[in-house]
Amino acid sequence: MSTLNHNRRNFIKNSSALALGCALPISLVELAFADSEKNFSFAYISDAHIQHIKGTRFVRNWDKGLIRAVAETNLLAPKPDFVMFGGDLAQLGSQPELEHGAEIMSALNQDVRYVMGEHDYYLDLGAYWEKLFGPQYYSFDHKGAHFIVLNSIRTYDEWTHRWPSNEQRMLEMAGLDNPNGSPFMVGEEQRKWLQSDLAKVAKRTPVVVFSHSPLQKIYKGWNFWTEDAEQIHALLQPFDKVNVIYGHVHQIQYNQIGNISFHSVMATAWPWPYPSSYAQAEQYLPKLTVPMNRADPFFERDATGWQLINMANGNVDMNFTLYNNSARSVRFNKANKQPEDSRYQEENTRIPGQQHY
Ligand SMILES: [Fe+2]
Ligand SMILES: [Fe+2]
Repeated sequence: MSTLNHNRRNFIKNSSALALGCALPISLVELAFADSEKNFSFAYISDAHIQHIKGTRFVRNWDKGLIRAVAETNLLAPKPDFVMFGGDLAQLGSQPELEHGAEIMSALNQDVRYVMGEHDYYLDLGAYWEKLFGPQYYSFDHKGAHFIVLNSIRTYDEWTHRWPSNEQRMLEMAGLDNPNGSPFMVGEEQRKWLQSDLAKVAKRTPVVVFSHSPLQKIYKGWNFWTEDAEQIHALLQPFDKVNVIYGHVHQIQYNQIGNISFHSVMATAWPWPYPSSYAQAEQYLPKLTVPMNRADPFFERDATGWQLINMANGNVDMNFTLYNNSARSVRFNKANKQPEDSRYQEENTRIPGQQHY
């Protein structure tokens, strides 16, 4: 904990030199081991949704969110070991969007690793994204932890190949509440790969999985959902400690299922409402999750934010700092064996969810 506080002080000191305040739409992830010489951190940026209008014009607000995150990531002290991008770099998967996003990301001082989002994928099934960023799923080891990146937003082949054009397929998957959509899944090919990848990892090694969709079932209408979640959990079950970190939901969520802790990260583009405030359809926001304050539409960066994440002995502690919103801390409670809001957002200071149905 002292390491966390020390690093956070440095970080804020460094940032304040440029009067950035304390609200950055990125995530600083720190892995703290018993042997403190092994500690390290990485930054996490997600869901930029770069959107092409015409010619050289792109949606300004989404550009600004990502540009700010990149600039602030470059100011982090201590410098993170690497940067993750959590998917949905593009809005409709086009080459201009992916190239424009890659160009903004190229200003980063550190190596970047990418996760595939559905908005990147469903135009050409990831072909151009692969040219820019590499394989759609892979793993790597870093200072004693094993990291796995999955493409969790695939779906049934029958759905993928039923459309008269790639553009229509992209639009159908991009829409919320769309009865023509299809549930996300990791799929058999990647599950087989995951099984063989995990076979090489010692059970005591901390495992961190990055996915775009939550590897759990929260709300099907918006694909806050992964169809084969239980099969993935079974593959991860033998390990002492697993953390899943996902994007896509553009809001704070956390959960504990068996040995697996789940945490979402913030978007740089826009916030989604909690599904419970929006639809009467069946949804399963984890009972553990205390919802964050709703976004104020007069602040375009509200309800985006950044997280300082401390991973001590395999457990993730999230420290969310949110634009125009109260800070949140979600830490692993060892006694209760689950992530908990350790700075509980008092009911009477919370903006109530609006009802949209
Ligand atoms: Fe997204
Ligand atoms: Fe997404």
